[in-house]
Amino acid sequence: LQNDSAATFTITCAAPGSNVQSLGEDESYRLEVTSTAIHLDAPNSLGVVHGLQTLLQLVQVGPQGFGVPAVAIKDQPRFPWRGLLIDVARHFMPVEVIKRNLDGMEAVKFNVLHWHLSDDQGFRVESKKLPKFQQMSSEGMYYTQAEIKEVIEYAHDRGIRVVPEFDMPGHATSWFAAYPELASEAGTYQVEHKWGVFNPAMDPTREETYQLLDDFIGEMASLFPDQYFHIGGDEVNGKAWSKNPKIQEFKTGHELRKNHDLQAWFNKRLQEIVKKHGKTMLGWDEILHPDLPKEIVVQSWRGQKSLADAARQGYRGLLSSGYYLDLMEPASQHYAMEPLAGATADLTAEEKQRILGGEACMWAEYVTPANIDGRIWPRAAAVAERLWSAPEVRDLDSMYARLKKISADLEWAGLTHRSNYRLMLEILSGPNGPHALKVLADVLEPVKGYAREKARDYNSLTPLNRLVDSIPPESDVARDFASMTTRLLAHASIAEEQDTMRKWLATWRDNAPQLWPVLKNNALLQELVPSSQNLTSVATAGLQALDYLRAGGHAPATWREQQLAMLEQTGKAQAELLNMIVPSVQKLVTATKPE
Ligand code: ACM
Repeated sequence: LQNDSAATFTITCAAPGSNVQSLGEDESYRLEVTSTAIHLDAPNSLGVVHGLQTLLQLVQVGPQGFGVPAVAIKDQPRFPWRGLLIDVARHFMPVEVIKRNLDGMEAVKFNVLHWHLSDDQGFRVESKKLPKFQQMSSEGMYYTQAEIKEVIEYAHDRGIRVVPEFDMPGHATSWFAAYPELASEAGTYQVEHKWGVFNPAMDPTREETYQLLDDFIGEMASLFPDQYFHIGGDEVNGKAWSKNPKIQEFKTGHELRKNHDLQAWFNKRLQEIVKKHGKTMLGWDEILHPDLPKEIVVQSWRGQKSLADAARQGYRGLLSSGYYLDLMEPASQHYAMEPLAGATADLTAEEKQRILGGEACMWAEYVTPANIDGRIWPRAAAVAERLWSAPEVRDLDSMYARLKKISADLEWAGLTHRSNYRLMLEILSGPNGPHALKVLADVLEPVKGYAREKARDYNSLTPLNRLVDSIPPESDVARDFASMTTRLLAHASIAEEQDTMRKWLATWRDNAPQLWPVLKNNALLQELVPSSQNLTSVATAGLQALDYLRAGGHAPATWREQQLAMLEQTGKAQAELLNMIVPSVQKLVTATKPE
């Protein structure tokens, strides 16, 4: 279909959408584009929302302006629960940040925003019944109930449910800053500024604990219309319980052997309260315990095995293990994480039905409103596709090609993952510096996993304004260079491609003289001097290796040894950054034959 005033666009929506979306609603749609018309048909408004996003993805510009290729698409999701968790406790995210991420979620057909609203570091919702939560535990950064309603409506218009999480009985220091009587140890509490797992936990033995939870959950159950209510339940280390003789006595009296049994006892009481207020309880995999009713949902973060265990025991589950965006892993890794493979592969068909889907998780220790989009997008789109599409759709080259297009689309939708990178380089380097800084930054990635925790003494007040906070989690340049290296070593690359590799290597080798004046007198950039030096060494080795390979493959043994030792050093983290060219240059050097 081309830009043509005679063309028609018909949307047929068989039934209105529901006021409150529910899990498992029909989300299917049919989209047909011919040379004269577009037809979008759906059983309800959810399919219309999804079909419109597919149509937007198909728009291309051509000689006659915008057009859409002729297609006939019949589409529906594989899993009914496709979520994104956003943690707003570790770093608060204003409403506008949540809204633009909901726009991104709509674009890739996620249908659940899991809003992690309380943790040790903050309590982010206004309570009218228990106002000390926002007064004592938010440091002024919380959502009013009017704002919560606004976000829920905004999400609903985009086919997205909003599931709140209030983490308990651990990860709950912020509760105690407001209501210390909830804690297992008497004393005064303040919100945490550090990261990690802390000892304070709710006192599961006092009736007053459940009275307060009943009040609070009752209030939140009417504020958040979704059927599901997440109670956290993760990482309770039991230390506060073990220290309290009264709690130990209670355990003995109730024949609760371990602290985990006590947590299950607490969860049972909690589940009754959640249910009384009309909701279904959801929690992290630590809540899995045979004493809990089968209606609860278990969210697996510690591995796929807990998801399989839950399904075998008759519980429904969600996969988040493998989908942690904060760990800075490449999109390919998240994309490869299949909910119904690995530990869950042997489940019966009935057990597999209990796996509802999964959620990408954006934990917020190392994100700010400025850089969060770049941590979520575009990688979350790979998770969204995994949860929507057939498991056979898993070609990585195709995924990355489409991710590139989606990444641009997401920026049009209002996300700032690419523009913020450019702006941060400008802020860090001044108006003359960004180019040389970008040459270096483009081949770096932040350290992976929980390595930042060990690198420095971070807390919630530490400015996140260094290069590690500015660059994308995944270097596209390094991935392209790695593909070229693989083809070269398989003797499948063309001369033109080898020229491209040389040009890049020369650019990296020669970058230091332009970059150093930028780094030298800048407190935030000085730490990159070794990274810049290393890039020169790595690129020089790469060029030399290419020369040796072109001349028959033999290289002096001492040169090889020296380069491999240098690459081992330069492959290590520097300023919490990894040089992602190193593995490719290692392959090139290793491919030479010692003479
Ligand atoms: C978690 O990451 N502790 C759920």
